[in-house]
Amino acid sequence: MRDHRRFSSDFENRTQLSQRQGQINPAVDKSLLFLDPPEHTRLRSLVSKAFTPRTIETLEPRVREIMSELLDQIANPESYDLMQAIADPLPVIVIAELIGVPPKDRAQFKTWSDQRARILEPTITPREREIAAEAGRALEAYYLGIINERRADPRDDLISALAAVEEEGDKLTEEDMVMLLRLLLIAGNETTTNLIGNGMLALMRHPDQLQLLRRQPELIPSAIEELLRYDSPVQTDVRTVMEDMELGGKQLRKGDGMLLLLGSANRDPEVYSDPDRLDLTRNEASHIAFGRGIHYCLGAPLARLEGRVAFEMLLERFEDIHLLTDHPPFKDHVVLRGLEALPTGARPFRHVAQAAS
Ligand code: HEM
Repeated sequence: MRDHRRFSSDFENRTQLSQRQGQINPAVDKSLLFLDPPEHTRLRSLVSKAFTPRTIETLEPRVREIMSELLDQIANPESYDLMQAIADPLPVIVIAELIGVPPKDRAQFKTWSDQRARILEPTITPREREIAAEAGRALEAYYLGIINERRADPRDDLISALAAVEEEGDKLTEEDMVMLLRLLLIAGNETTTNLIGNGMLALMRHPDQLQLLRRQPELIPSAIEELLRYDSPVQTDVRTVMEDMELGGKQLRKGDGMLLLLGSANRDPEVYSDPDRLDLTRNEASHIAFGRGIHYCLGAPLARLEGRVAFEMLLERFEDIHLLTDHPPFKDHVVLRGLEALPTGARPFRHVAQAAS
């Protein structure tokens, strides 16, 4: 991942595309993720300002407000689906607001996002592929509409900021803009959903660790890093070999495809002691759940913020948080690993319940 010259992100460098990649329409689906320098450098620098840790910090009060509303909507804390209540909606509301999608369009936006995200999965069916392509076209038309609105009437959102860059000159085309916005929707949604879902599942399965966080909430930021390592939301990534070489005793040829197993690397026994153990106080090498090198996750500060607020506020609001089933269902995904549902039980703290009544 650090050596982007010898390991390209552009799947068009592949000698043989997998069936899945062969069916991706590059004009529609090629995004920042699948570009090499210099194109990658140009486009990434145009969006990266919106995602610096400092810019993202300013969003915290609003993320807390959204989280608080979601918690208020849990009608029966003794039995609820944590995915449906928190992990699914929180990231989509945050990213939609950041981009500049009006609240009335959020539900549609989430549907498009879920349909598009299936493209990443080898388990995608031909019918789902058609639906994903249709969602891509609909999303493009939708974004073009908002881009036009923001050109005439700019606001404090990412679409207006990108439209302003476009007007400055030849740095950014309308096509670039749609591509970036489309990627942010997918990249910023299901991934963070899975951090919250997989993370809460791991905590509920390790009540001692959950108790530790209750006693020492200041551990939450480092706990998030351990949860990302322990059950990584993005399990795999891809690269293309750019020159013949030997690596780890294997002969690689120019044009070969590589599957990078991030989840597995995050449990490498040569890097982590007792890697299958969840240890929120672990102080070892940083995980690679957000990747490495020039494609390092642009949204990492945002994902960390959302994760922190979600864990903090769930723990503040509820006591006795526990699983209602031993084996909550996972989606049939390989790349974006996450839960379909997370049946959870809890009791509101008495002071919170009194304040509400
Ligand atoms: C826990 C949540 C997340 C995880 C685990 C995650 C993981 C990753 C990984 C592994 C990559 C590197 C891909 C590669 O090198 O090929 C990546 C790239 C990226 N992520 Fe995330 N991500 C998360 C959240 C987000 C969020 C919230 C956003 C946006 C708001 C986002 C936007 C992006 C973008 C735009 C890229 C492409 C960067 C580039 O190609 O230069 N991600 N992410």
